[in-house]
Amino acid sequence: MIRREDYEFIRTLVYDYSRINLGTDKQELVSARIGKRLRALNLPSITEYCELLRRPEGAEELSNLIDVISTNHTFFFREPAHFEFVEKHIVPEATAEKSPHRRSTFRMWSAASSSGEEVYSIAILLAELSLSRPGWNWQLEATDISTRILKRAREAIYPEESVAKVRPELIKKYFQKGLGPQEGNYRVKTELGNRVTFRHLNLLGPAYPFNEPFHAIFCRNVMIYFDRPTQEELVRRLSERLVPGGYLLVGHSESLTGIHHRLKMVKPAIYQLPA
Ligand SMILES: C[S@@+](CC[C@H](N)C(=O)[O-])C[C@H]1O[C@@H](n2cnc3c(N)ncnc32)[C@H](O)[C@@H]1O
Repeated sequence: MIRREDYEFIRTLVYDYSRINLGTDKQELVSARIGKRLRALNLPSITEYCELLRRPEGAEELSNLIDVISTNHTFFFREPAHFEFVEKHIVPEATAEKSPHRRSTFRMWSAASSSGEEVYSIAILLAELSLSRPGWNWQLEATDISTRILKRAREAIYPEESVAKVRPELIKKYFQKGLGPQEGNYRVKTELGNRVTFRHLNLLGPAYPFNEPFHAIFCRNVMIYFDRPTQEELVRRLSERLVPGGYLLVGHSESLTGIHHRLKMVKPAIYQLPA
């Protein structure tokens, strides 16, 4: 079990760096997850792990700590209503002849992309929608605080269970079936992968590295880990990155109720920046 002062130290460190709010009662979860780091570093106790984190070389370990603490659960086409909204509203609005938001490139951002299933689902959808829009340019950004999970996202290799919700004809078109040692795995095809730029980014860290605004931002199933002031700050920062009339999509279990923002709710978990 973790000592109270060690828990408080870890909790504060994680909050200060990532703004993930562990609360006062996650001792068991935190001990279990730090267990992985103790084994990797061959350390006998969490107290010694905290000592390492306090030393200058602990700065490097901090990102490993965030890696084990953060929850990366995700899957292809999670929360399908959002993909339907992209298809029925966001893309048609942005590509309409007379749209004031028409730009040379349609841009979307998966702001807490985890291992990539979310952004590749968007890529599959946009690739399908581009069939009826010859010459349409689109490009995707995907970011996450975890370097370990970003590595997996860039590799783009997924087990069969993970692609289970992808329609078979889309699997055939956009994935390569693994052979030999990769039997049972599916790899996103390079043409699709090339549409996505993955970057390491702390959503609450220094300035975002983008020059162009986005037509839509998916920031799903990450806000639940933040406290209200952090959620408010994040929504403000994300809103500044939208084109006028652009959309912010949050997880269905997340809501912007009770926080100040300048977005209009258009559907549950879908918000629009007024044009
Ligand atoms: C549960 S996953 C959500 C994945 C995907 N958006 C979805 O809805 O399926 C949450 C992700 O948020 C990332 N995360 C947590 N805190 C973050 C922060 N401060 N900045 C950027 N990403 C963060 C975690 O590393 C994790 O991969």
